[in-house]
Amino acid sequence: MIFEQLFDNKSSTYTYIISSGKGREALIIDPVIENTDKYINVLKNLDLKLVKVIDTHIHADHISGLNELSKKTKCSKIMGENSSSEVLDIIVKDNEKIKIENIELISMYTPGHTDCSYSFLMNDRIFTGDTLLINSTGRTDFQNGNSHDAYNSLFDKILKLPEKTLVYPAHDYNGKKYSTIGNEKNNNPRLQVKSAEEYAEIMNNLNLENPEMIDIAISANKKGLTLDKLNLNKL
Ligand SMILES: [Fe+2]
Repeated sequence: MIFEQLFDNKSSTYTYIISSGKGREALIIDPVIENTDKYINVLKNLDLKLVKVIDTHIHADHISGLNELSKKTKCSKIMGENSSSEVLDIIVKDNEKIKIENIELISMYTPGHTDCSYSFLMNDRIFTGDTLLINSTGRTDFQNGNSHDAYNSLFDKILKLPEKTLVYPAHDYNGKKYSTIGNEKNNNPRLQVKSAEEYAEIMNNLNLENPEMIDIAISANKKGLTLDKLNLNKL
């Protein structure tokens, strides 16, 4: 299997390129628009044909490369059913299969960070978007976020997976690339709580600043803007 994890320095976003092998079909999760050429080069070097692109949720801190990649490669744009994106080709519900050749991802509706947040399980690993981060969890204070929903998504769904399951998030701000369910369950400070109320208490008192690009990014990601419609120098 080909599994490439790429990092965007500006937004600390992880993007994943997945394929069963050289010369085969590929899928990308959470691309950043500014890095489109980089992804296209990786695909070209491995002789991969991009067929599907997924965003785990509507991002507030960067503009997604979903539409730009689709424009360039004709790949299908995929998100979960609660997404407000206006440009999707395939909309998945909870517990649906997304396939490329012999690779299968299972969609898992994990609201809380936003009301459109999905995670995607692929064999021994899960792409958690911003629902579960390494040593942290996604904020719940905008985009219809809800700390009780987040608690349920974490404790009733994601943390029920086998402890050795690898965790690949959409962001990391400390240089960590992946974790495991067991490690997060035991060491993630946000997860050492006994109830949804206790979790909400933590999440409602984070007092975080809004991401710099929030207004531009959310609106661009809903409309599925491409590079020719954006003046990135002005952002
Ligand atoms: Fe997010």
